[in-house]
Amino acid sequence: MSQASIVEFVRSVYQTNAFIPLHAPTFGGNEQKYVLETIQSTFVSSVGKFVDQFEHKIETYTGTAKAVATVNGTAALHAALYMAGVQRDDFVITQALTFVATCNALHHMGADPIFVDVSPVSLGLCPKAMDEFLTQNAQVTDSVCIHKQTQRPIRAVVPMHTFGHPVELDELITVCQKWNIVLVEDAAESLGSFYKGNHTGTLGDFGAVSFNGNKIITTGGGGMVLCKTAEHGARTKHVTTTAKVPHPYEFYHDEAGFNYRMPNLNAALGCAQMEVLEQYLVQKRVLANRYTEYFAESDFQFVLEPEYAQSNYWLNAVICPSVQARDEFLKQTNDAGVMTRPIWKLMHRLPMFKDAPRGVLTHSEYIEAHLINLPSSPVSL
Ligand SMILES: Cc1ncc(COP(=O)(O)O)c(C=O)c1O
Repeated sequence: MSQASIVEFVRSVYQTNAFIPLHAPTFGGNEQKYVLETIQSTFVSSVGKFVDQFEHKIETYTGTAKAVATVNGTAALHAALYMAGVQRDDFVITQALTFVATCNALHHMGADPIFVDVSPVSLGLCPKAMDEFLTQNAQVTDSVCIHKQTQRPIRAVVPMHTFGHPVELDELITVCQKWNIVLVEDAAESLGSFYKGNHTGTLGDFGAVSFNGNKIITTGGGGMVLCKTAEHGARTKHVTTTAKVPHPYEFYHDEAGFNYRMPNLNAALGCAQMEVLEQYLVQKRVLANRYTEYFAESDFQFVLEPEYAQSNYWLNAVICPSVQARDEFLKQTNDAGVMTRPIWKLMHRLPMFKDAPRGVLTHSEYIEAHLINLPSSPVSL
């Protein structure tokens, strides 16, 4: 495969000579109609019918007991960790190979991350690596998992379904049960991805979805907490809406809640985008199949969904044969107006997380040095 031909290939797929972004939102349905409706009704802010409708659509689609709309995915994760009982000075296990928001959310709780390796199959948190880290570094005392060296609780784990590819959830749940650890799924990237028939974010105690502009569907900015029980759902709604006790006119708040409500304006966009989600999923699978064929004869390895899962193929990725090949690929595509990107720096390389305890990160380091994200907007069929 010559480097020039990837540019030609992507251009032929998108049928354009203009700049090709990594992931652009598309609004071909009822977006304008619903947003205009909110403006005309004046209910553009935190109250309005679209918020309820959007939550309901997500509940029906994912099968979660209760979905709670928030201002963004980071807020959804923060609220999920709050609901999961994470406390100041706790540890929360996560993957070093993630977007920084995963770690920021647990940091906002006053907790610190512990980094474990990812699986080369899912690119997400590896249950075996987590179990190995815990076996070497933790013990369960009075039903609490304790980090032996610091005597601090390890309260929760946040696996991230990288680029929409689901992690091995059955195995992860087994490890969580063994060590008494709460499971909060960072499903920011994986709306439309299923693990053995279950939507991502619904098997953990909580899940968090993002509707940022670069995600498979967008509300401009927005997020959703997926709650496993109706009780958790009701409480999540309460704490994310300033913990106001319902009353016709009195203001009484029974705890220091968050103002994480998604505005009705954004929810209107979300309702329209949900109507085209299935179509986007088809378009993105077609694109992934084309990349698979294209890279098949090369020494570049296109990242496929794990065999146990159905991925949304949110962001397509390829593993390059060497660091040099990756750098050349990045330069040639970006110089030619075809946007490609390296994966994030591992989290322990960032100043605020540099001292975090961590296991062996062999796969994370390899992927960090070799992976490239490819243009992934839905293609015309
Ligand atoms: C893995 C991951 N977690 C969390 C987030 C946070 O979502 P948001 O940008 O909506 O706050 C994002 C995306 O932006 C993400 O990719």
